Amino acid sequence: MPETQVGIVGAGPAGLMLGELLAAADVETVILEDRSRDYVESRVRAGVLEHGTVERMDALGLGSRMHRDGLVHHGIYLQFNGERHHIDFGEHTGGKSIMVYGQQEVVKDLVAARLAGQRDLNFEAKVSRITDFNGPLGEGMPTVHYSVSGLDKELNCQIVVGADGYHGVSRQMVSPGSMRTYSREYPYAWLGILAEVEPSTDELIYAFHDRGFAMHSLRSPSVSRLYLQVDPTDSIDAWSDERIWEELQVRLHAGGWSLKEGPVLEKGITPMRSFVTEPMRFGRLFLAGDAAHIVPPTGAKGLNLAVTDVVVLAAALIDYFRSGDQRGLDQYSDSCLKRIWQAQNFSTMMTTLLHLDGTDDQFGRRLQRARQQQVVNSRSAAKTLSENYVGLPLAEPNR
Ligand code: FAD
Ligand code: DHB
Repeated sequence: MPETQVGIVGAGPAGLMLGELLAAADVETVILEDRSRDYVESRVRAGVLEHGTVERMDALGLGSRMHRDGLVHHGIYLQFNGERHHIDFGEHTGGKSIMVYGQQEVVKDLVAARLAGQRDLNFEAKVSRITDFNGPLGEGMPTVHYSVSGLDKELNCQIVVGADGYHGVSRQMVSPGSMRTYSREYPYAWLGILAEVEPSTDELIYAFHDRGFAMHSLRSPSVSRLYLQVDPTDSIDAWSDERIWEELQVRLHAGGWSLKEGPVLEKGITPMRSFVTEPMRFGRLFLAGDAAHIVPPTGAKGLNLAVTDVVVLAAALIDYFRSGDQRGLDQYSDSCLKRIWQAQNFSTMMTTLLHLDGTDDQFGRRLQRARQQQVVNSRSAAKTLSENYVGLPLAEPNR
């Protein structure tokens, strides 16, 4: 049976980035991905890279396309019922910024690097089971069971990393008694579109409106990305392109500003939830990224959390394979979970600040308005938002 040091399930940002970080230290990996290369490279998802994620791409030598095509942003706009306010990240974080660069571009860069290095990356390889992962490191080998074109295959690994997203199989292998999960559903979803039109804004606009949340993001000088709060039971068929633009025009409207429209290239509805698995390690199986946790997208933390998980995990795995030192692996869960709960806190704050909860709770509505006023009028509130948005330092996520 083929064998490797680290078997990685999933070629999303978490699995691919982990593969690159380990390859740089000569740790051997095999990546198994259910979908085709074309599918993973064209899946439209997140778009904001924290400055630390940008630094990771640079450190791996993968920054050239990102610096050429990505757009550096130094702040965001928050808009409350037509009144737009600028939050300046540079001013509040000592000059830090974020990069707008689509997740699928990050994935393309990582796939290209892996293939150029002739390292093992298997598309259309669906993992069905992981066995023998319980027990101490070094005493036994987990087996990853997968299939390619209907043929069953097995891979033995010293360690397995489940980087297979929220709907993946890795977390499902863990007996329910060995883990606790914490979750929260939200009474709304996001309808996202990609449109072939020059962005109408220089920086992202997060807008609260009496009809619900709307956001204007972008992907390039000629492609815009926009979102609308919708009902989680809504079907995309109920949202014609015309209706989407009408609603965006109303919710994003601000005096002296206009929203440019263009052909819709892609549209879809994403449910919103918070979810955390504790711990993130089960013997010789480690979970990373969306396989272990989900945040609501307001605040753009999902992709960045996936990257920071694997940065912590890669350092611990490198120590283990170089010298047998297990301390980093033993601390993996605890050190990641601190950051994950900080991100849950920030994403929940941004989500509840900006969405209509759909109830008739007038007290709650007035509290929300007070929080909206605070974030644009109080320097310390704007500083807290900015520090979280650009990304907390890796070593001290919960100062
Ligand atoms: P994923 O990107 O989900 O990658 C997991 C990979 O594992 C996938 O390629 C999948 O095909 C593969 N896989 C699954 N099961 C198996 C199996 N059995 N065998 C082999 N491979 C398997 N975040 C934001 O910050 N802003 C956004 O706007 C935003 N929009 C999103 C829209 C959608 C529709 C979704 C689903 C997520 C969105 N996110 C967003 C979240 C962000 O994209 C994720 O946090 C990020 O993709 C996490 O990366 P990951 O590598 O952990 O997981
Ligand atoms: C984007 C997505 C987000 O969730 C967010 O908070 C900001 C931008 C985007 O897709 O561009």
